[in-house]
Amino acid sequence: MIEIKYDNKLSIRTSGIKEWDGDIIHYNRCEPTPYKALIHLFKHYKLEKTDRLVDFGSGKGRVAFYVHNRFKIPVVGIEAQDSILSEALQNKKMYRTRAKNITAPISFEFGLAEDYEVKPEDTKFFFFNPFSADVFREVLHNIMLSLKQVKREVHIILFYPLPDYQKIMRKNSSFEIYNKIIVPKVRDRREKFIIYRHLPA
Ligand SMILES: C[S@@+](CC[C@H](N)C(=O)[O-])C[C@H]1O[C@@H](n2cnc3c(N)ncnc32)[C@H](O)[C@@H]1O
Repeated sequence: MIEIKYDNKLSIRTSGIKEWDGDIIHYNRCEPTPYKALIHLFKHYKLEKTDRLVDFGSGKGRVAFYVHNRFKIPVVGIEAQDSILSEALQNKKMYRTRAKNITAPISFEFGLAEDYEVKPEDTKFFFFNPFSADVFREVLHNIMLSLKQVKREVHIILFYPLPDYQKIMRKNSSFEIYNKIIVPKVRDRREKFIIYRHLPA
């Protein structure tokens, strides 16, 4: 099975779904982006050496490890469930025993995505439905503040983009649709990526 094969290649364990404990309304469960989708995305969309990718709601780290391994660029994951973050950090230990020669840093931070201070070097932002549209709006606001401070091209990558997220991108941002990448041979047509681009004025 492809999920296990790629986890083994990276020396990580990222499969499985984990719900939040208790009644959490705005924050979604942990579920990895399928490897099939990631492979397809990056067949059609490349990251640059100068990029730094932030995965908001990074779970056990699958997207972060895959991107770091494939493009050798700095990657940061932000995760708000501490038990899940521990698994990502455990994965990092195992991953690093194999990926010793990749000098770019890979890090995971515990915290809320909406509290993350966007850095000038952050250029690609990944979201697989981590939270409600209200929280997404806050995170987008922070990204846009950072763009005012340091002008640069940035992309937002949405996997399984929900209509509410798309509406926020249409109405509240200076981003335009750059690409749409549909994962082939999947039953659920929502398994696709929309990539938005902001160009400096
Ligand atoms: C659907 S999973 C995606 C995991 C990973 N990005 C991937 O695509 O493989 C969403 C993750 O976001 C986390 N999350 C939810 N709300 C969050 C928030 N406000 N800040 C940071 N992480 C959050 C969840 O705990 C979960 O692990």
